Amino acid sequence: MQLAEVREGLEGVVVANSSMSWIDGENGVLIYQGYNIHDLAEKSTFEEVIFLLWNGRLPTQAEFDDYFKRLSDERQLNDQEWDFVRRYANSQVHPMAFLRTAVSFLAHSDPDVEDNSHEANVRKGFRLTGKMAVMVAAFDRIRNGKEPLQAKPEWNHAKNFLWMLKGREPDELEARAMDVALILHADHGFNASTFAARVTAATLSDLHSAITSAVGTLKGPLHGGANTRVMQMLLEIGEVERAEQWVLDALARKERIMGFGHRVYRTMDPRAVHLRELSKKLCERIGETKWYEMSEKIFEVVHREKGLWPNVDFFSASTYYAMGIPLDLYTPIFAMSRVVGWVGHCLEQYAHNRLIRPRANYVGPKGLQYVPIDQRT
Ligand code: CMC
Repeated sequence: MQLAEVREGLEGVVVANSSMSWIDGENGVLIYQGYNIHDLAEKSTFEEVIFLLWNGRLPTQAEFDDYFKRLSDERQLNDQEWDFVRRYANSQVHPMAFLRTAVSFLAHSDPDVEDNSHEANVRKGFRLTGKMAVMVAAFDRIRNGKEPLQAKPEWNHAKNFLWMLKGREPDELEARAMDVALILHADHGFNASTFAARVTAATLSDLHSAITSAVGTLKGPLHGGANTRVMQMLLEIGEVERAEQWVLDALARKERIMGFGHRVYRTMDPRAVHLRELSKKLCERIGETKWYEMSEKIFEVVHREKGLWPNVDFFSASTYYAMGIPLDLYTPIFAMSRVVGWVGHCLEQYAHNRLIRPRANYVGPKGLQYVPIDQRT
C-alpha cells in the first residue's frame, strides 16, 4: 500500500519552521532573519551577518565588536591541526574532501565537542568558522610550496582569508568582493547541505558531525560543486565568440549547463545580481573582460533556449577567477561562508528538536522464500 504521494527530491515539502532565511522563488527575493539580501550585500559585513543568523537580530556596536574578536581569536590552529593540514595539502586530495575530513578532525581537539548546549554550540560555531578559513588558505599555500600565514586580528574575515591565501594585502575592491561573496553564501533556506546538517543534528549528534555531513553534501556538482564547473566551462569555451555554439551543442546533447536552474527560483537568483556586478568590475580590473562577457553570452543563450536563470554559482565563478583564486577552492569558499548558516540551523534544530525520519514508498518484492546458500543456483 502506498503511504502517500511520493515527492521526489522532497520538492515543495515543508518539514520545519525556521526563521533563518526565506526565499520567494517567484519574485527572486531572499531574506536572512527578516533582512533583504540586497541590503545586506550593500551595507552589511560577514561578521554582522554571523550575529544576525545566530541571534535573529542585528548587533549593537558592542555586540559586533565582541563577535569580531571572538572570530578573530579562532583564526588559528594547534600543532596537531597544522600536522593534519600539511599531511593532506601535499597529497592529491581534493580541497573539499580535505575540508570534510578537516571538520571532523577539528572535533577531536574541541573542548566542547559533546556539549550540545546553545552556548557551547556558538563557541564551536566560531571555532569552525575561523579554522575552516585558515585551513583552506593554508592547504593552498602548502601545496604550492609556500608557508602558511598568520591572520591579522584587526582585519575582517574576508580580508584575512585573501591575505592568508595570497600573502599580500588585498585592495579595497577585492576585500569587499570577498566580504559580499561570504554574505551572499551564508544561508539559503532548506538547501541540501543545510538539510543534511539538520538531519544529523536531529539525532542529537554533535555539531561537528552535522557540519561534516553538510560539507560532504555541499561538495556535489548539483549543489556547491557547480561553481568550479562553471569556470571549467568558461575556460573550455575560451573565447566569447565560441560561447553560443558551445551552449547550443551542450543543450543538444541534453547536458546541464552549470550555474543555471534552481529548485526554488523561477527568476534571477538575487545573489547572482551582486555577483554579476562584481564579476564585471573584477574582470575589468585585471583587463580580462572576456570571462564576464562570455558569462553574459551564456546567460543570454541559456535563457533564450531553456528559460533558465543563473544561480549563485554562475557569476561567482568569474568573480573568483578574476581574483586569482584557484578553481578547486571555489566550493571550499562556499563552505567557509555556509558554515554560518549550518550552525544557525543546528542551533534552531537543537532548540526545537524532533528526529527527522521520513518514509519511503516500498517498491521492492514481498514474501520471497528464503533459500539456503548451498541450494541457490
Ligand atoms: N541546464 C540544462 N537544463 C537544466 C538545467 C541546467 N542547468 N537545470 C535544469 N534543467 C532542466 C532539466 O533538464 C529539466 O528538464 P526536463 O523537465 O525537460 O527534463 C528541468 O530543467 C527541471 O530540472 P530538474 O533537475 O528536475 O530540477 P531540480 O529542481 O531537481 O534541479 C538543479 C535543480 C539546481 C539541480 C538543476 O537546475 C541543475 O542541475 N543545475 C545545474 C547545477 C547547478 O548549477 N547547481 C547549483 C544550484 S544553486 C547553488 C546551490 O544550491 O548550491
